[in-house]
Amino acid sequence: MYIHNLSQQNSLLNTFISEIRDVSIQKDSMRFRRNIERIGEVLGYEMSKVLDFSPVEIKTPLGFSKINLAQDDIVLCSILRAGIPLHNGLLNYFDHAENAFISAYRHHKEGSEEFEIIVEYLACPSLENKTLILADPMLATGRSMISTFEALKPYGTPKNIHLVSTIGAQEGVDYVSDYFPKDTHLWIATVDEKLNSKGYIVPGLGDAGDLSFGEKLQH
Ligand code: URA
Repeated sequence: MYIHNLSQQNSLLNTFISEIRDVSIQKDSMRFRRNIERIGEVLGYEMSKVLDFSPVEIKTPLGFSKINLAQDDIVLCSILRAGIPLHNGLLNYFDHAENAFISAYRHHKEGSEEFEIIVEYLACPSLENKTLILADPMLATGRSMISTFEALKPYGTPKNIHLVSTIGAQEGVDYVSDYFPKDTHLWIATVDEKLNSKGYIVPGLGDAGDLSFGEKLQH
C-alpha cells in the first residue's frame, strides 16, 4: 500500500488537525465538522495528483486552451454517520463523483469491551472499473474499513482504490495495509501511536460522530 501521511510535511493542514483534537475548540461542533471537511478537501486535492489525466481543449471567449483533466469515474463511499463531514469535504472537490453510503457500527457484547462491526444499510452504484474512494474519519482498528469493502464486493471490481482518513492508529494502518491490494493508496492527515482498550485512538480526538452530531444513547 502507498501510505501518504500528510502531517510528515508542514502545512496548514496541521492547523485543522490541531483544532479537531483540542478539547476546547472541538466543542464547537460546527467548527469541528468544517475542520473535518477542510481536511477532506486537502486530502482530496493531494489524491487528485495521482488520478488519470488526459488533455482536453477548452473554448474560451478568445480562443482555445489545452489543459490536463482527471478522467476517473469516482465513487465516494462513506460510513454513516461519522463519515458525513469528511464525505462532504471530498465531494466539494470531486463534484461529479457518484456516492455510496453504508451504515456500520460497533456492537459491544454485554459487559465487555469487545465489539463486532455490524453492517446494515448500503446504497451503492456500480463500482466496475471505477475509482473507489473509501473514507472513514478515524482509522482505529481498520475493521470498519475492511467490513465496508467486503460489503461493497458484489457491486463490481474497482480499477483503483483510495482510502481516506483524518487520524489513524498505527495498528489500524498496518491492518488495512496487509488486507487491501498492494496498489491501494492511503491518504491520511496523521497517524497516532496506539488504541486504548475500547478501541479509541490515543491521543486521537474522542468520538468523531458524537463531536459532529451529538452524543447517542448506547444500546
Ligand atoms: N472512532 C472514533 O470516533 N474515535 C476513535 O478514536 C476511534 C473510532
